Amino acid sequence: MFKCLKLPVFVFAISLAHSPGLQGAKAPATKCVHEVMASAVPKDFRGIWEDYAFFESHSTEFENALQAHREFVAEHFKQRSGEQLNLLDFGCGQGTFLAALLKDHPVFKTPTQVTLVDRDSGAVSGAAKKIAQLAEAGGFLLAPPITGRIYFSQATPLDAHLIIAKHVLHYVADLKETVELLVAKCATGGLILFTLASSDNGLNQLNAAAMALRPDLKSLPKIPTLETLSRFLPGRITRSVRQVKSEIRFEDTPANRQKIHRFNLGDHYSRFTEAELKPLMDPYRVGSEIIIPLIDEILVLQK
Ligand SMILES: C[S@@+](CC[C@H](N)C(=O)[O-])C[C@H]1O[C@@H](n2cnc3c(N)ncnc32)[C@H](O)[C@@H]1O
Repeated sequence: MFKCLKLPVFVFAISLAHSPGLQGAKAPATKCVHEVMASAVPKDFRGIWEDYAFFESHSTEFENALQAHREFVAEHFKQRSGEQLNLLDFGCGQGTFLAALLKDHPVFKTPTQVTLVDRDSGAVSGAAKKIAQLAEAGGFLLAPPITGRIYFSQATPLDAHLIIAKHVLHYVADLKETVELLVAKCATGGLILFTLASSDNGLNQLNAAAMALRPDLKSLPKIPTLETLSRFLPGRITRSVRQVKSEIRFEDTPANRQKIHRFNLGDHYSRFTEAELKPLMDPYRVGSEIIIPLIDEILVLQK
């Protein structure tokens, strides 16, 4: 059973995007945690899209991740000529990242069928609109977007050549099933790019510091690491890891601190008082700014 939005099929074109080099803030001397508490599994993004937008517009994560994804795609598909490429973005959010990846990338000059999946129906339809706008200009085929993991199942017909799951696997309650499902949906020879924040990521450490204030949240599942995820991969799959270092930098005001705590803690934000959360960012204060180092890991899989 699929719950799909009906969208027309489009066709379209591509130029190369500018991406700055890696930037990294000096990490404050905080404890490195190897498995930190999940802010919520699953995490509901519906109330925090504005905070997420604040995060995106103040961090270098987007550009650095984009640069890495564009390189992996260019390298993996360099021999490919002409045949349709099937792309799945699992946990696509508002589609901003995917739209930037598709735009003007030579690999996507070939007809590309895009399948969007997200548990938030508002996000997935926003993403579909963005991709549809790109499609109007050239050669994409947009499959009906799929809302929710449960509607994206073994029954979904898909032989994906490229699967992207960026900053979503932290939030799935059924990690093993989800990873196995995504691997099953990948065509032989296809490329899968899973991005997770590393346990050294400043936001994960802030999350852990907040959770330590609340013993009642101790029983929450751990945020998965790449090692956790690797356990669910079949042995024959080729894998490598790329670390991407970025930072979030913003003016140090109570309102800005609050936005990042709300984005980071999601559903659990309301369990804390502002007085409890505010000082947790003090170690990241540099002059009049807060600078939080972000370390992500991209697991690159070839089936
Ligand atoms: C941090 S956002 C990342 C969005 C996008 N991938 C990016 O990197 O910009 C996480 C997204 O995962 C979605 N998500 C969370 N759990 C999910 C699940 N079980 N199945 C599909 N999407 C999920 C959320 O609704 C949200 O849109």
